[in-house]
Amino acid sequence: MKLYSIIAAGVALIAAASCCQQAEQTTGENQVIENIMSRRSIRKYKPVAVSRDTLQTILECGINAPNGMNKQSWEVRIVDNPAVMEEIQTMMTTSNPEAKPEMVKGCFRDAPVMVFIANDPSYDCSPIDCGLLSENIMLSAWSLGVGSVCLGSPIRFLVNSPEAMAKLGFSEGYTPIICIGLGYAAESPEAKPRDWSKVKYVE
Ligand SMILES: Cc1cc2nc3c(=O)[nH]c(=O)nc-3n(C[C@H](O)[C@H](O)[C@H](O)COP(=O)(O)O)c2cc1C
Repeated sequence: MKLYSIIAAGVALIAAASCCQQAEQTTGENQVIENIMSRRSIRKYKPVAVSRDTLQTILECGINAPNGMNKQSWEVRIVDNPAVMEEIQTMMTTSNPEAKPEMVKGCFRDAPVMVFIANDPSYDCSPIDCGLLSENIMLSAWSLGVGSVCLGSPIRFLVNSPEAMAKLGFSEGYTPIICIGLGYAAESPEAKPRDWSKVKYVE
């Protein structure tokens, strides 16, 4: 009984010490917080490829995002070949005659890698799953020195282009929801202001 009490006290002490350590980390140097706070949307990229090894790490982080019931209700298609990127952009331009080619190309922001993400509209949490996957991709990319931008505008052209949709080959029932451009940044944008009035403690 005495031994049990000593062990319990020891465990409590270790738990208390690790709590203090956690509290200290958030106020001191913390690489996760630094990574989150320094990430910015990058809209100018160096014409430099991102290696498949680096992409693999980023995508591994992406699919390890929390997701509803672990359904992993996303599909992901990666385009890192400039010829394929151009082919998809041409398909999207042809299918959207109201859009000028520069408009379609421009919305990709010249990112050398494009990650297309589709959601499953039959599952109400699927857009959230895809959002969390996207954030894991962008933050892990940034931690490896790879810039990113979340892009909604190419989706409007993509969903109107049966050719581009066929090229990406999403499964039946999956609908593109967001793209993420990835590449090495050729700009360092300032942080945009955030509105703290939208955040309130409930007392
Ligand atoms: C759902 C979503 C769609 C977005 N679509 C675009 C887009 O089409 N084009 C673009 O340049 N940026 C797009 N962005 C990037 C936002 O403009 C950017 O995240 C926001 O201005 C905050 O800037 P920051 O990412 O540098 O903090 C999008 C972001 C999100 C989350």
